[in-house]
Amino acid sequence: MTGTVVDDQWVTAVAHPNIALIKYWGKRDEKLILPTSDSLSMTLDVYPTTTRVRLSDAGADVVRIGEAPALGEPYARVARFLDLVRELSGRAEHAIVHTCNTVPTAAGLASSAAGFAALATAAAAAYGLELDATALSRLARRGSGSASRSIFGGFAVWRAGTGLSDLDSYAEPIDRGDLDPALVVAVVDAGPKTTSSRTAMRHTVQTSPLYWGWVASSMADLADMRGCLERGDLCGAGEIAERNALGMHATMLAARPAVRYLSAASLTVIDTVVELRAAGVGAYVTADAGPNVKVFCSGDEAAVVAERLGALDCVRSIVTARPGPGARLLSRSRR
Ligand code: PMV
Repeated sequence: MTGTVVDDQWVTAVAHPNIALIKYWGKRDEKLILPTSDSLSMTLDVYPTTTRVRLSDAGADVVRIGEAPALGEPYARVARFLDLVRELSGRAEHAIVHTCNTVPTAAGLASSAAGFAALATAAAAAYGLELDATALSRLARRGSGSASRSIFGGFAVWRAGTGLSDLDSYAEPIDRGDLDPALVVAVVDAGPKTTSSRTAMRHTVQTSPLYWGWVASSMADLADMRGCLERGDLCGAGEIAERNALGMHATMLAARPAVRYLSAASLTVIDTVVELRAAGVGAYVTADAGPNVKVFCSGDEAAVVAERLGALDCVRSIVTARPGPGARLLSRSRR
C-alpha cells in the first residue's frame, strides 16, 4: 500500500458535501464508525472544502481551519485521524493541515463529510499511501461516517457491512439513470448545532423506543429507493427520502430526553413544501442534524422551489445544488 512519499510538498484535495436521501443514524461500533444500516446520498456541486497537507518535522500536528488555528476537539479529531494515516503508512512524521470550508460548519450541512473526505484524500497522498476509492472511502469513514460517501460524485450507497469487520463498510457509486435531480438548500440558521451528531446518535440508539423500527424501515426504504432510481421515478425517490428523514427525526424526538434539531423555521419550510406539492410541484424535504431543510426536486423545478422558499422571512439564504463530483487530488506544490 505504500507508494512514493512526497514530504516537502503541499498535497491538496477538494471534496464536496453529500446529503443523505436514506439516512445514517446510529453506530454499531463507535471506534470504527460502523453504522447500523446502509445509507444513500447525493454529493453536491456546491460548498467545496479544500484541504492542504504537508509532512513536517515539528513535534505535533499543526491544524488551521480557515484563518484560525484549530484547538480543542476539532484539533483532536484531525490529530486522531492523522494517527490512523500514520499507522497505515508506517510513517511517524507529523503534518501541517490547512483546511478551508465554504459551507457553514456543524449546521447540519455536511461540513464534516466534505472535510474528512478532503482530509483523507490529501493525507493519504501526503503520507505516500496509494489507496483506491474503496479504501479511501473506508479511511474517510473513520473521520466522519458520512464522509465515506463524499469520496464519490453523484449518488452513492454506504454499505453498513457485517459484524465487526472494518473491511466491508464503505461507500460505492450508484447509477442514477435518467434522473436529473436538484437539492434546494434553505438555510434558516447557519450557526453551529448544540448537540453533535455523534452524541445525538448514541443517545437515540440507547434510549429511543422507536429506533430499531426506524432501522428496519430504513432498510426497506433503501431497497425501494433503488427501484425508483432504476425506473427514473424522481417523485417516488423524493417521497421515500422525505419519509426516511422524518422517521429519523421521529426516533430522535422519542429519545429520552428528546433530541430536537428541527426548529419553528424548519417546520415553516416543510409546510411550504407541502403547499408546493399540493400545487403540483414535485418537491420533497430532507433534514439532518440541524434546522436547515433541503428540498429534493427535479432540476427543471428547482427555480420555482428556490423562489418560493426564498420569499419566506425565516429563510436566510437559498443555495441550489446539483449532483457534484467526488473527492479529488489537485496538483502538488511547494508553496
Ligand atoms: O457523519 P456524521 O457523524 O456527521 O453524521 C451524519 C448524520 C446525518 O447527516 C444526519 C445523516 C447522514 O446520513 O448524513
